[in-house]
Amino acid sequence: MHHFEYRNGELYAEDVPVRQLAREYGTPLYIYSSSTFAHHFKAFDSAFSSIPHCTCFSVKACSNVNILRLLGSLGAGMDIVSGGELHRALAAGIPPERIVYSGVGKKHAEIRQALEAGILMFNVESMQELERIASVAGEMHLVARISLRVNPDVDPKTHPYISTGLKKNKFGLDLEQSLKAYRRAQELDGIEPVGIDCHIGSQLTSIEPFIEALDRVMRFYETLKSEGINITYLDLGGGLGIPYHAEEPPHPVEYGRVVSERIKDSGLTLILEPGRVIAGNAGILVTEVVYTKDTPSKHFVIVDAAMNDLVRPSLYQSYHRIAEVQPKGRPERNVDVVGPICESGDFLAQDRDLPGVEQGELLALFSAGAYGFSMSSQYNSRLRAAEVLVEGSTARVIRRRETYADLTALEE
Ligand code: LLP
Repeated sequence: MHHFEYRNGELYAEDVPVRQLAREYGTPLYIYSSSTFAHHFKAFDSAFSSIPHCTCFSVKACSNVNILRLLGSLGAGMDIVSGGELHRALAAGIPPERIVYSGVGKKHAEIRQALEAGILMFNVESMQELERIASVAGEMHLVARISLRVNPDVDPKTHPYISTGLKKNKFGLDLEQSLKAYRRAQELDGIEPVGIDCHIGSQLTSIEPFIEALDRVMRFYETLKSEGINITYLDLGGGLGIPYHAEEPPHPVEYGRVVSERIKDSGLTLILEPGRVIAGNAGILVTEVVYTKDTPSKHFVIVDAAMNDLVRPSLYQSYHRIAEVQPKGRPERNVDVVGPICESGDFLAQDRDLPGVEQGELLALFSAGAYGFSMSSQYNSRLRAAEVLVEGSTARVIRRRETYADLTALEE
């Protein structure tokens, strides 16, 4: 469900014509719908309303501080993976007791920064990290609340780059190591083990891997209890998929029901870290056709957005629906939609049937709200796009387009 719809023959973002935004702010342009964000957040969060929980939006999916503020105003906490994301979450006014910190390589300064802020907990991913957090907390005369990220060795059946809960992945600790780490955590002065965490992957389109992981984690939780290790939080990470194309991921309500049913009697407070399911369909990327070019083997549509703006197609061969902002009903042709970057890997779609579009026309790439702008770069010294947030009939720039001065500002 999202608020990008065709009305009177053209695409609207809520009540604003996309064409008008493109004219005013230029292209490539990220456009977000504030009602879609709110709708997704509420639908997800309320799916867990029967149990104590905190929905921590995964900042990496869409990191703009204005978006974080919007979600924060609806009660969201944040899942962060760097000092930079902590900075953003705090700048957005997120209460530190609603922030959880994951990631395999937290540095000394980042741990300090998070302890100073007073975050809810660290999701610890190795023995060395546990020791380091204990020593930083000791230096600061504080106690760090932690969860251990257990790796349940479950196949999430998603793209290998975004699978995280398999034995061979760099994330978390296997169950045996986790037990040792909990025992060690009990001994360490600067550490209070308060939770257990797992995140098995992203863009999951079936419920079974979640259930398998949860069942393994709950069995492990029983083992912890029998050892006298009493925790209060269960963090299930993120990972729920969205329909980019033909996928039919489980609805958050189903996910919420299945999870709540399994943990309702445990007394555990649930932490969730959704990113894509909140942000994915809340944003589009609008681009202008710069040229069309027919070669003996291919038709190319060359647009002004590129892999530096949206890397997902190049990196994961992922599919984003592409449609005209003002459809003209022309017959389809099979085309590659490509950007201006000097790499053959720079494409937004390959072998796609699209209506024959012409120079100067606008195209919208859907489902670009998650891992779109947040993964963008300046490669080929391209200026990063502007981001605009629409709310009803008003639109405001929440990140201005970069300038040439921005490009060299840090190099003088
Ligand atoms: N929690 C942890 C510990 C994570 O590593 C992730 C995503 C999330 C939560 C949020 O997952 P989500 O609900 O968004 O699936 N760039 C890739 C996705 C990378 C996901 C990394 N971790 C893409 O564009 O598909």
